[in-house]
Amino acid sequence: MKKRVAILISGRGSNMRALIEAASAPDYPAQIVLVLSNVADAGGLAFAKERGIATEVAEHKNYASREAFDRAMDEKLAAAKAELVALAGFMRLLSTDFVEQWRGRMINIHPSLLPAYKGLHTHRRAIEAGEAFAGCTVHFVTPELDDGPAILQAKVPVLPGDTEETLAARVLAEEHRIYPEALRLVAEGKATL
Ligand code: GAR
Repeated sequence: MKKRVAILISGRGSNMRALIEAASAPDYPAQIVLVLSNVADAGGLAFAKERGIATEVAEHKNYASREAFDRAMDEKLAAAKAELVALAGFMRLLSTDFVEQWRGRMINIHPSLLPAYKGLHTHRRAIEAGEAFAGCTVHFVTPELDDGPAILQAKVPVLPGDTEETLAARVLAEEHRIYPEALRLVAEGKATL
């Protein structure tokens, strides 16, 4: 049985797209049953709809607290019978309760070689620090931001003359490669928390 996966996005959704493409293969161990966005006009929603995948929007500004927002998301995940959650450019902090509830069943992609460069502006900070390498990490989500155990990482060189944009593009190509692979490992039970 394929694992039922919900993808949470806030924007463009290129990683979401990579997961949807991978999951369209007959032998992939997961199926995407829901794309949930906290931003009503997130670019990724259109692609998901085109592919016939259910989409939902829960805008955090419509909820009184982070906990109320997380409960609303949880209801949508339950309605979709999601078994795994993949955060793909989801730019909201999640409450500890929510994270604990999905412990071992929620993964994230982050554009740095964690534990280096948690948080935002990872590429700018890596360039400014004169790093020779940058990269990306797929990890299990734990209550501390960008802190959970890594499942897969990919490394790319930082090249002379790199800008935030050129480095981001080089890393993004690797994100699209490793995220489907990491989700496969989790769906098959080969990577566990
Ligand atoms: C990706 O680079 C992802 O790693 C990053 O946001 C981008 C989303 O792009 N995520 C984070 O920074 C999470 N802290 P996408 O919407 O095209 O997948």
